[in-house]
Amino acid sequence: MGIRISPSILNSDVSDLRGELARIASADWAHIDVMDNHFVPNLTWGLPVVEAILPHSPVPLDVHLMIEDADRWAPQYAEAGAQGVTFHVEAAQAPIRLAREIRRLGARAGMALRPATGLDGLVELLPEIDMLLVMTVEPGFGGQSFLDAMLPKIRAARTAVSAADLDVWIQVDGGVNVETIERAAEAGADTFVAGSAVYRAEDAAAAIAELRGLAGG
Ligand code: DX5
Ligand code: ZN
Repeated sequence: MGIRISPSILNSDVSDLRGELARIASADWAHIDVMDNHFVPNLTWGLPVVEAILPHSPVPLDVHLMIEDADRWAPQYAEAGAQGVTFHVEAAQAPIRLAREIRRLGARAGMALRPATGLDGLVELLPEIDMLLVMTVEPGFGGQSFLDAMLPKIRAARTAVSAADLDVWIQVDGGVNVETIERAAEAGADTFVAGSAVYRAEDAAAAIAELRGLAGG
């Protein structure tokens, strides 16, 4: 099973996004948090910024949409060339149709669950997606603490993916650092978003390598 590290640029020096992306060239993906101040109480950037950074990123973009009306907006990120587009199931009216549309446009389709959203009724959707994102903090801000209460959900997701013999990545996002990544990996996550743990480190490449090692990669 592969391990992937996807640093979140949310708390990077956003006045120098190109330079900040260059710092994480040894990562597998760059995690781009899009927030609309409605689905979450914070506002970041949208399609024009994603389009602008795409040609300058040394790694593929893992776009995490924390926005309402995902059905309308998510396909546009895939169309723009983002290699991974993750929408929140709570913000999608027709998640299966949306995942199919994202895939048809050539991107990996991800589906995210807020901490309060259970897996019940969603296992049937797994064949339609490439990645399930189990949020390990309440979405909206970087630098929060990892919710250990999400470990059973990660474990249940891994069991469901294995039982159906699917190649669906299980991503965790929020509070992932050297203290918590082993627990998440042990529970079955294979794709790790880390914002502050990477960008607050003096040497981002060393932080990425350390996280990867702890996750078993
Ligand atoms: C939170 C975002 C995360 C955030 C993670 O809503 O989805 O991607 O940047 O930051 P850390 O790793 O600092 O918790
Ligand atoms: Zn995120």
